[in-house]
Amino acid sequence: MKINLEYWRQTGPEDKGHFETHTIQNVEAEASFLEMLDQLNEELFDEGKEPVAFDSDCREGICGQCGIVINGDPHGPEVTTTCQLHMRHFKDGDTITIEPWRSTAFPVLRDLVVDRSALDRIVQAGGYISVNTGAAPDAHAVPIRKENADKAFEAAACIGCGACVAACPNGSAMLFTSAKVVHLGLLPQGQPERKERVVNMLHQHDAEGFGGCTNTGACASACPKQVPLEFISMLNRDLMKSGSRVK
Ligand code: SF4
Ligand code: FES
Repeated sequence: MKINLEYWRQTGPEDKGHFETHTIQNVEAEASFLEMLDQLNEELFDEGKEPVAFDSDCREGICGQCGIVINGDPHGPEVTTTCQLHMRHFKDGDTITIEPWRSTAFPVLRDLVVDRSALDRIVQAGGYISVNTGAAPDAHAVPIRKENADKAFEAAACIGCGACVAACPNGSAMLFTSAKVVHLGLLPQGQPERKERVVNMLHQHDAEGFGGCTNTGACASACPKQVPLEFISMLNRDLMKSGSRVK
């Protein structure tokens, strides 16, 4: 396949950035999107140009490192991670526009690489258990209702990729935050700090510059791990029970 690329170039957070173009010949339909970017970089390198910076690690849809806006959609036309997207979803002669996540809370470090450490700081603000829960118990020692175990597992599937933020017209990270809140809030170990956890995490969410949630649902539609919108309602219920007012 022949693919025309329009990709974002930016030297750092202060640079305005701009698009550049390049045409790649002989792209395999079975290549992953990141393999196609590897091919782009090899060609740019051969031409004596700077390779395009992009993030990746596992390339198996697990780590959440990869994240690119492809033709306007976070992670591209399929609901999956960028590393799991394949070139068979495009046609010979297609033009593909490639941009970084666009959010105030995710400054562009270089080209397609953004700083997503704001998500880590939300987790640091309360997405863990700080009380001593003792040594790891046997898997079945603490009975947990199947329904709760399944939902906690669904929440734990969040890989922190940030596609929900990139998709949201408000740049909100509420789906991500709700996944972390719900994950621990459904388990017995998460109960002692449940009320303060949701408040602390939401304060950090707002302090990082993420926008408020207006229930557009764009986040859940873009989430490669199908984290449901319902989790945001569950977060809001926890917030109401805490008696605190955050935004
Ligand atoms: S909720 Fe989904 S889209 Fe958002 S960070 Fe987690 S996995 Fe990514
Ligand atoms: S590189 Fe790990 S999820 Fe894509």
